[in-house]
Amino acid sequence: MVRQSVDFQDFVDEVLGKTDIVDLISRYVTLKRVGNRFQALCPLHNDKKTPSFSVSPDKQLFHCFGCGAGGTAIHFIMQKENLDFMEAVKLLAERAGIPIPDYRSSSERAKAAEIHNKKKRMYEMNAEAARFFFANLTSKSGEGALGYLKRRGLSNSTIKSFGLGYAPDSWTALIDFMKTKGYAETELLEAGLAVKRDNDTYFDKFRDRVMFPILDLRGNVIAFGGRIMTDKDNAPKYLNSPETLVFKKKDNLFAMNIAKNSKAGQFLVMEGYMDVISLHQNGFDNAVASLGTAFTPQQAEILKRYADKAVLCYDADEAGQKAADRAGGIMREANIKCRVLTITDGKDPDEYINAKGKEMFELLVDNAESFIEYKIGKIEKQYNLEDTVEKIEFIEQIAKILANIKNDVEREVYIKKTARKTDISPASITAQVENLMRKNQKGEQLKAQRDEKRAFEARTGGRQDLDRMRLYNAEKLMLNLICEPEIFKTVSDKLKPEEFTEGIHRRLAEIIYRTHQNGEKIRPMQIISEFDEADTGTVSEILSDDKNVENKAEAAKMPLKIIKEFYLKQAAMTEQTDAAKLQEIMDKLKKDKKQKGEK
Ligand code: UTP
Ligand code: MN
Repeated sequence: MVRQSVDFQDFVDEVLGKTDIVDLISRYVTLKRVGNRFQALCPLHNDKKTPSFSVSPDKQLFHCFGCGAGGTAIHFIMQKENLDFMEAVKLLAERAGIPIPDYRSSSERAKAAEIHNKKKRMYEMNAEAARFFFANLTSKSGEGALGYLKRRGLSNSTIKSFGLGYAPDSWTALIDFMKTKGYAETELLEAGLAVKRDNDTYFDKFRDRVMFPILDLRGNVIAFGGRIMTDKDNAPKYLNSPETLVFKKKDNLFAMNIAKNSKAGQFLVMEGYMDVISLHQNGFDNAVASLGTAFTPQQAEILKRYADKAVLCYDADEAGQKAADRAGGIMREANIKCRVLTITDGKDPDEYINAKGKEMFELLVDNAESFIEYKIGKIEKQYNLEDTVEKIEFIEQIAKILANIKNDVEREVYIKKTARKTDISPASITAQVENLMRKNQKGEQLKAQRDEKRAFEARTGGRQDLDRMRLYNAEKLMLNLICEPEIFKTVSDKLKPEEFTEGIHRRLAEIIYRTHQNGEKIRPMQIISEFDEADTGTVSEILSDDKNVENKAEAAKMPLKIIKEFYLKQAAMTEQTDAAKLQEIMDKLKKDKKQKGEK
């Protein structure tokens, strides 16, 4: 056990040794050198304008003053990629070409193997169910369903390539079939294919519905959507699989397994299964759908792996337009160049392409306006630009949108367009936009300051007074400086670890003192690993931030003085209270005496 953990530490050290944190982080964000460190907008929180993120190449640590995150390359990857410690180490090891030993305990290994097997079996189960649904389509019971799909214009080859099917009008058809394949009802329940009654009996989730299998990127069947064939008031049009071990709605896009191979260079993102299938049948192999939920940032990341352009083809109704608004915002956050296609006559893409044909749809795609234009256009409809007052209001609204565009060139393009549209000079619109940008920036700076203050208060238990802050900062700087053996020598006989007033500082001091006293080198990674996850930000900030001091020996004098002064003051206060108490007691005694004397 002990031996293994030593080995593991060596492995982690090797990985960190072969990872340059500056190189790593520059893949996520542009770093700017400032003195002996690098600065950037923090890639871990929504840091728009204040570069609160700092990387120290010497210490190989990062820290953000805005969100309080910090640590080694491993901690960065943990937060950026949302991984646990082990996964992050593995990712960095792979990146550095270091073979990964299996450190898991036998029980962990067994658990992972169990989950792996369970997932594998669920994929097989879903594939088996898909085959069953598909086979039904060509059987007697599926005649109606096949007819339905044909009426909606789908060809045999489309039906086959999407693996569409039919779930029979029966309570147990699928359960019965799956039992013959060796699957238990409890497994079908877990896979979302069966539903359990209160009396512990089971029935098929999908009954008398046309079935749309949902595949992951590798082509595994992970879920189903089932469409009712004749509209009923009491039943949803589409019924979807619940979330399962293999199906997380927010992480998947319908037809992405096909669309990822498209040569189109952009994706067409739509709302419905039928829209996507129709478009594929018409040669648009880049159509995907967001599975009946709002488009998610995770889905944006998936698209981004294959192309950085997308066209939103949402329904023209109010719900569709709202969804497009949100999806467009998410795409811009993910740096996907996003355009919006509007089908004017209230149809969805499926209806449109069936009515007008693929060339017309192609034209719509080519002429889709940029997301910003689309938003401007929507606002434009609300104002009469012939009216001066309305024109001014219009420009105010537009300026709000333009102030959020990060790219200068892009912003200027729209400023010019708005100028032409309104016959107002680009200079005055620019002034208005920049004014808003400054306000936004100020707002964000204030927010960053507030966040930092709040983080500080959280760390210091809400003590806000300046002296306290001064002491706190002095301790931090001192801890950083005494990592240097020479500084430590001059400080260690004047200041003891227990004199650090902050709990976490005290612990850190103890470790630094112990390391020096054992004649070992200070290794930030090892020190950080002695702290809880929640404290890594604070500790790495301390270890990496030397406040750019030039002469460390000189710099150590001030914090030493501040800490010592704190104790002197405290002693003086105790004396004062002692003296005051004594006086009080004396006064009281005198008074008592006097009263007695009067009696
Ligand atoms: P729509 O109602 O726009 O359906 O829902 P559609 O895709 O045009 O379907 P058809 O043409 O009538 O067959 C869009 C998407 O929202 C989800 C489905 O993913 C659907 O494709 N949805 C809709 C549900 O999950 N449940 C519902 O009851 C309705
Ligand atoms: Mn439709």
